[in-house]
Amino acid sequence: MEDESRIGLARGLVTMVMGILDSTQQTAWERDGFLVIEDLADSVSCVELQQRARAIVEQFDPHAHRSVFTTNEQTRTSDDWFLGSGGEVRCFLEEEAVDSGGNLARSKQGAVNKIGHAQHDLDATFSRFSRTPEMAQLTAAVGLADPKLLQSMYIFKNPHIGGEVTCHQDATFLYTDPITVTGFWFAIEDATVDNGCLWAVPGGHRTTLRTKFVRNDAGDDSAGTSFEVSGPEISKDGAVPLPARAGTMVMLHGLLPHFSGPNRSDKRRDAYSVHIIDGTARYPAENWLQRGAAGPLRGF
Ligand code: FE2
Repeated sequence: MEDESRIGLARGLVTMVMGILDSTQQTAWERDGFLVIEDLADSVSCVELQQRARAIVEQFDPHAHRSVFTTNEQTRTSDDWFLGSGGEVRCFLEEEAVDSGGNLARSKQGAVNKIGHAQHDLDATFSRFSRTPEMAQLTAAVGLADPKLLQSMYIFKNPHIGGEVTCHQDATFLYTDPITVTGFWFAIEDATVDNGCLWAVPGGHRTTLRTKFVRNDAGDDSAGTSFEVSGPEISKDGAVPLPARAGTMVMLHGLLPHFSGPNRSDKRRDAYSVHIIDGTARYPAENWLQRGAAGPLRGF
């Protein structure tokens, strides 16, 4: 009896030290800069989130807001719809969904690239999905002292036209000083090599930030944005695919090079990602994402 209680006490202490991650996971996270955790979200939560996302798209008027989202540096559209979305819930279209005449070439549900970027605060279903005890424990496990949910995206990667996301570091777009952004990417449906799963470079986070995406004038949306380059382009040499069953979460270090291919298959690949920073770090006014009327960032 005494031994059992001692073992129980020892287990409790191990849990307190490691938190939600065991020692193997903690080592893998530090070594690779990413960590795949299966079944972090249950199927009921995934379906609920997907239904809510489709309801948001249903309310979207694509003729009023023909904003296309792309990570291609040459064609990124930094229009008002995008720059003002840091504290809103907005839909962005796929590049290939809009024809040369500016008309939708697809049904609305098949034409949207993503919803962004504050549904984690402004929508009850998204807030519930994003603010679980497990998520709070994970942020603590990776060292975020004062976790603040900064940005979220529901990414459709629709069949046949789902666009690629070019190789990038998340800190390029969500910069803090020091760098603290951590990505939590959930497969809402099965993600495979065929339908555009994530790819990442193991260990690639042990490098510097190569580019910053900044506002040209912190106080003026119409001044647009640009990329400040401070090193050679990041390499995707050695990248590995991260196929993920629905409910799997992939945690990504802010400096980790990662990307996903286009979806040319006939299978959907919905995903949800939320990016969390440390509130103790400085958040510059020239970052593209500003909260506007949504107010201060919130934690768990
Ligand atoms: Fe990313």
